[in-house]
Amino acid sequence: MGRQLKFEIFRYNPEKEGDVPRMQEYTLDETPNMTLFIALNRLREEQDPSLIFDFCCRAGICGACAMVINGRPGLACQTKTKDQPGHLILHPLPVFKLVGDLSVDTGVWFREMYAKTESWVHTNKVFDPTQEEERMDNEVAEQIYELERCIECGCCISACGTARLRDDFMGAAALNRIARFVVDPRDQRTDEQYFEVIGNDNGIFGCMGLLACEDVCPKGLPLQNQLGFLRRKMGITAMKNIFRKK
Ligand code: SF4
Ligand code: SF4
Ligand code: FES
Repeated sequence: MGRQLKFEIFRYNPEKEGDVPRMQEYTLDETPNMTLFIALNRLREEQDPSLIFDFCCRAGICGACAMVINGRPGLACQTKTKDQPGHLILHPLPVFKLVGDLSVDTGVWFREMYAKTESWVHTNKVFDPTQEEERMDNEVAEQIYELERCIECGCCISACGTARLRDDFMGAAALNRIARFVVDPRDQRTDEQYFEVIGNDNGIFGCMGLLACEDVCPKGLPLQNQLGFLRRKMGITAMKNIFRKK
């Protein structure tokens, strides 16, 4: 006989007039290999059709199902109930705009942050479709691939003390994305130009380095290495700027 799970779920629909934030309780019989994705769908189908939450891929790929599970940001579709206590407390991710209950809008945040950090390859080369593709070292291609594995779930941003205090802080996901362009040989930006974008308190110098971001990243991205890499690079650029002014 499986456990009877007790759920305490944050409820609030900002679109519903007169609605107030509250915690609502549900109980559900645990089944073998149950994930939070299965549990929440059963709660919605069997007990409360008004419950709002997001899912797309159910396979840890789309990042839509991120939420705070017993105080820790994580993906609901990748969380087995057997690995959790019988009492589950679920909140939406902080920092992002609340859509309703457990659903937040991470898309707008990422779009704005990527625009701010100019998250695209900057090159003066004119594309010539008749030319052969330019080759890239396997090692560099693998490094870029590793940093491209971010699924934009927002867990690292929600776990970040700085991002929670300051909504203009870029956060680990945006800084990781910048690191991706720094290692890309096609991007012709200089360290000076990167410094203009991330060499400030909203960027790499605002990071306190406590690495909650890496602890919660469901894709295991090497955020610690990337933040360290950017901090060293931007620190050297700052020193060069000081000596240049003298
Ligand atoms: S290491 Fe930096 S980016 Fe990561 S959680 Fe801490 S302050 Fe945020
Ligand atoms: S870096 Fe990790 S935790 Fe942050 S958004 Fe990307 S996948 Fe999610
Ligand atoms: S539903 Fe896509 S990551 Fe969970």
